[in-house]
Amino acid sequence: MKKILVINGPNLNLLGLREPALYGAQNFAALQQFVVDCAAECGVEIELFQSNHEGAIVDKIQAAYGVFDGILINPAAYTHTSVAILDALKAVALPTVEVHLTDISTREEFRRFSYVSFYAQKTICGKGFDGYKEGLVYLAELWE
Ligand code: DQA
Repeated sequence: MKKILVINGPNLNLLGLREPALYGAQNFAALQQFVVDCAAECGVEIELFQSNHEGAIVDKIQAAYGVFDGILINPAAYTHTSVAILDALKAVALPTVEVHLTDISTREEFRRFSYVSFYAQKTICGKGFDGYKEGLVYLAELWE
């Protein structure tokens, strides 16, 4: 069974509490359960990882080399700032989908730019939890 690493970046652990008008009322545990259920449906194995720290995310991506077959990542605020996360993704060169709960193209100007998009094979925005499902399905279908 193919293994996908699911990474959530800073402040996503505060889903539910955090700007619910934008990010919804469901909490992070609900997102994790949703992703676990989608993985079971898609027939892929997943590991869930969340960190508020850029270096920890870089370390996790590096450690994915040779262990995972793909990465689904919501880099959160680091989307817009982190060359280090982009470089780590390029280094391990695994199939990668970038996902955002909100549509970053219609929010503040500073959210419109994504470093991670320079590498990700697919970017899914503005579909809430369903975006994670679409990303897992996309990755699962790569190996059919
Ligand atoms: C986000 C969008 C980012 O701009 C923001 O910093 C986040 C969440 C999203 O899922 O919509 O933390 O990645």
